[in-house]
Amino acid sequence: MDLKSTIREIQDFPKEGINFKDITTLLKDPLALKATIDAISENLKDKGIEIIAGPESRGFIVGVPVACQVGAGFVPVRKPGKLPAKVERYEYELEYGTDVLEIHHDAIKPGQKVAIVDDLLATGGTVLATARLIESLGGIVVSVQFLMELNFLNGREKLQGYEVQSLITYDE
Ligand code: PRP
Ligand code: MG
Repeated sequence: MDLKSTIREIQDFPKEGINFKDITTLLKDPLALKATIDAISENLKDKGIEIIAGPESRGFIVGVPVACQVGAGFVPVRKPGKLPAKVERYEYELEYGTDVLEIHHDAIKPGQKVAIVDDLLATGGTVLATARLIESLGGIVVSVQFLMELNFLNGREKLQGYEVQSLITYDE
């Protein structure tokens, strides 16, 4: 199935010069949604994945159905101040300023095999932070799965050493 044709592109959102990839048009299409979850789950087959970790918020949308399909649990990686129990925190650099992600301190057991699932690989900052949080708890990041990858931002370079797979790539 041609998933790319179901993703809407919005010029100059959220600011001038950005060609935003809007997955809401994919998500409301039953066949495209199913094909997306099936394809990511297929990429994770036979890898012994015990936990899917998804960064807030679009990583929840894609991550939970994949977790169900591969027979794994789901762990949310959240924006600061949202998780109620004790957290590990990771601060990372953006182009301007910093961002923070958090994970519950007991979300993953040492040695557990984890796959990270998110909708988009852009600069790679979000998923690198997610990987560092998982590793700080002793989890093993076996695979990183995306629906979309923006080749021109070279996020893959930041994720060297990890298995990285994307269903769709964009060159602009
Ligand atoms: C978007 C997207 C990815 C991230 C990719 O999330 O869903 O998580 O950016 O960018 P990066 O590779 O440069 O880190 P966003 O932070 O906009 O939040 P959302 O998922 O809540 O919409
Ligand atoms: Mg996101």
